[in-house]
Amino acid sequence: MKAVRIHAFGGPEVLQLEEVARPVPAADEILIQVYASGVNPVDWVVREGGNDALRAYLTLPMILGWDAAGVVTEVGSAVTGFQIGDAVYGEPNFPGDGSYAEYCAAKASQFAHKPQSLGFTEAAGVPLAGLTAWTALFEHGHLQPGQRILIQGASGGVGSLAVQFAKAKGAYVIGTASADNLDYLKQLGADEVLDYRSQPWEELVRDVDVVLEASPVRDNVARVKAVTVLKQGGIFVSVNTDFPFDEAVHAALARQQATGVLSANQPRQEWLQEIAQLIDAGQVKVFVSKVYPLEQVANAHRESQTWHVRGKLVLAIRQNDEPA
Ligand SMILES: NC(=O)c1ccc[n+]([C@@H]2O[C@H](COP(=O)([O-])OP(=O)(O)OC[C@H]3O[C@@H](n4cnc5c(N)ncnc54)[C@H](OP(=O)(O)O)[C@@H]3O)[C@@H](O)[C@H]2O)c1
Repeated sequence: MKAVRIHAFGGPEVLQLEEVARPVPAADEILIQVYASGVNPVDWVVREGGNDALRAYLTLPMILGWDAAGVVTEVGSAVTGFQIGDAVYGEPNFPGDGSYAEYCAAKASQFAHKPQSLGFTEAAGVPLAGLTAWTALFEHGHLQPGQRILIQGASGGVGSLAVQFAKAKGAYVIGTASADNLDYLKQLGADEVLDYRSQPWEELVRDVDVVLEASPVRDNVARVKAVTVLKQGGIFVSVNTDFPFDEAVHAALARQQATGVLSANQPRQEWLQEIAQLIDAGQVKVFVSKVYPLEQVANAHRESQTWHVRGKLVLAIRQNDEPA
């Protein structure tokens, strides 16, 4: 099968399209014919050698990509709930061999049936970003109907879905993005939008129950400002798990009697099922800003590395994008 592998860590030039053996699923795995793969910032972080949290888990050569939509072609002996021919989506094997490939074997528990209303391309943009948003909002942020949330980086892959999940839950959503993306945030349903470059959001926002740091900014001074917009007893959730809170952030959290959490996404099937229901109910839309053929994966990485992708980037692997 065709796959994009790396044999060394480095720039986009280490991405190699190769012929490799098709994986064989273990008893608890399914084999997926991958139709499309999402592209996420962690793909190029791993390509460059990872961060302190990841480095020890990376082995070469490696197939990158942890966001797949496709069709089940084999089912492991212990798997229930999937059949050959099912259209599925999920977050396979992070940080092992992933979805930049024609086939991917992964634990069935990391997949769910794909939203019926989406084609494979859009569906491939959902799992990793969606599970990141879901874990942060609900597992750690404990977001409740009627609560107020500030979402930083609201126009990105994680942020776009977080805004919509929070609205679907019945929260009041304040989102930050750059000026060109403010209308986009309103289309996603944000109640208030702020330009993080030209507006002093830390003075304009008050009394939020939850702050979700879904921007790529790794800056503890900015985090202190974000904590101060919380209500007493609020929750600050950051998805930037590679960047710990410093003393100043801990002190700010203590002043607000607030909780601070670094949230790593959890690839749970039941959450993928809930997300698919929201999508099929029309409550969540998926915005794919660009689709690259697998051969142009290096350009997809270059674009992701700008940190200004609206919604998602996706790699097309098999040409068939009819909703299944
Ligand atoms: N913990 C986990 O499991 C996990 C999983 C996935 C991602 N992440 C992390 O989550 C973050 C977002 O990932 P993503 O996939 O959503 O990235 P993305 O799709 O590249 O989106 C990045 C967004 O950040 C915004 N942004 C860029 N510079 C900014 C700045 N200086 N201040 C505020 N916002 C800024 C951009 O908005 P504008 O273009 O409007 O400026 C863009 O929409 C990254 O740091 C990533 O490492 C963590």
